[in-house]
Amino acid sequence: MPLKHPLNSSVIWFTGLSGAGKTTLATELKVKLEQLGLPIYLLDGDRLRAGINADLGFSHKDRSENIRRAAEVAKLFCEEGYCVLATFISPFESDRNLARQIIGFDRFKEVFIHCPLAVCEQRDVKGLYKKVRAGLITHFTGIDSPYEEPTSPDITIYSNEQSVEDAVNLILKKLL
Ligand code: ADX
Repeated sequence: MPLKHPLNSSVIWFTGLSGAGKTTLATELKVKLEQLGLPIYLLDGDRLRAGINADLGFSHKDRSENIRRAAEVAKLFCEEGYCVLATFISPFESDRNLARQIIGFDRFKEVFIHCPLAVCEQRDVKGLYKKVRAGLITHFTGIDSPYEEPTSPDITIYSNEQSVEDAVNLILKKLL
């Protein structure tokens, strides 16, 4: 029987630019929450796009469908008692609102990982920004595709200014 906890059956939705630190923070948060005995599922954009969403690209329409499917999957895990950590750029406010609606307003917590584009580009963890600048990738969020910052996120993390540990502790403090 899983532990009864306010974060059971909830979705913590991380949004932000590529390279802002969504997956890094969610991975660290997962470790901490599992130590509390919570069942966690980390639902990551890159992994979904490698399989279930492999038919989708990066047009506005495809990103919307990507987020809709992600939200439906998150909802299924949520209904089984999991705390889902969802990491998607999810650049459009309307798509994040749809995800909130699909999952349920009370179950959905939005965490905005703020990081200046220049810093994300400098980090370039996956080498994608270099490819964008070389003209090999188009419709890249923050460069030639927009990112709409959340207007009222539950939590904002400034990943350029906070350590991963401080950020995770802040999320835990706000959510527990
Ligand atoms: S979303 O915009 O539809 O929410 P998602 O989070 O699933 O995006 O996937 C983003 C990941 O796809 C990035 O972290 C990056 O690894 C990869 N990617 C490849 N092409 C692009 C692109 N044009 N724009 C953004 N991310 C891209």
